[in-house]
Amino acid sequence: TKIHQFLQDLPKCEHHVHLEGCLTPELMFTLAARNGVSLPDTEKRPEFSSPATLYERYEHFTSLDDFLSYYFIGMSVLQQQGDFEALAWEYFQKAHADGVHHAEVFFDPQEHLNRGVAFDTVVSGFVAGCRRAEQEYGMTTKLIMCFVKHLPASDAQKVFDLAVEAGHFESGALHGIGASSSEVGPPKDMFKEIYATAYSKGIRRTAHAGEEGDPSYIRAALEAYKSQRIDHGIRLIDSPSLLQQVAKDEILLTVCPVSNVKLRCFDHISKVPIRTFLDAGVRFSINSDDPAYFGGFILHNYCSVQEAFDLSIAEWRTIAENSINGSWVEQERKSELL
Ligand code: ADE
Ligand code: ZN
Repeated sequence: TKIHQFLQDLPKCEHHVHLEGCLTPELMFTLAARNGVSLPDTEKRPEFSSPATLYERYEHFTSLDDFLSYYFIGMSVLQQQGDFEALAWEYFQKAHADGVHHAEVFFDPQEHLNRGVAFDTVVSGFVAGCRRAEQEYGMTTKLIMCFVKHLPASDAQKVFDLAVEAGHFESGALHGIGASSSEVGPPKDMFKEIYATAYSKGIRRTAHAGEEGDPSYIRAALEAYKSQRIDHGIRLIDSPSLLQQVAKDEILLTVCPVSNVKLRCFDHISKVPIRTFLDAGVRFSINSDDPAYFGGFILHNYCSVQEAFDLSIAEWRTIAENSINGSWVEQERKSELL
């Protein structure tokens, strides 16, 4: 339809996609075989029998933690530099087809290091995927390293130190830090020292907050982390005062509507606070989160929002402009995209 073509053509920026969340069951099985990694015993876990049975299981996530249990098993097949590069490249091909011009992508190094994969293997593989997307598609890309909340903060500190010592933030190999994984349970400010160091070095900061957790998680990300963006942030609907502050401070929320329904944050896309955010002047971008697990990439998210909210062309232009302006990219590139 006409609106679908309009959404396809809209110059999109993606700010919230986990590269490990782009691992399709097909690639998972291929890499497991190639690398000799065993997936769970199918006697006990029949959903690991084939890509088809995994896809079926992915239709029934009950929570963020239920999803994460699959996400962390899936990524265990990634072993060699070429695996990380192939994963990133698969994502960029899909993103390009969906009309993404600029992508800022997350990855979770701690999980890979814990499995004995070298930090450099992970980073150089993902960087190679990014450079290929830049060369073949003229996309701009940025890598954001996430710390995971279910592992000790000391592990996060180690990986941050490795990145700083390797000069990855200065060279531009890495562009910022984030925090992801389980929300309710781990301390809200567990990476406070790392974020303070990042702030003092001028390293960009974002953090997942207010996905399953209440608005106090968002307040902690803004205050304890001096986070410049909030990933998800949907529970802002429970705090009108914080919502006003986020609007006034022009903090960009990276919203993932399909993810929110798949992980049972809302029972339908129409409950995602798109209208509330637009009306309150809260800036947000629309993103895919873990597209291989949630059944669709960024354009699927744009189209699902359109079906539920019937936005005007002017509202879509506002969303596209806010996501360009909220990107961590040079002003010159923003002007090109606007
Ligand atoms: N890691 C991958 N996807 C995530 C999500 N939706 N929330 C928190 N951590 C994640
Ligand atoms: Zn996420």
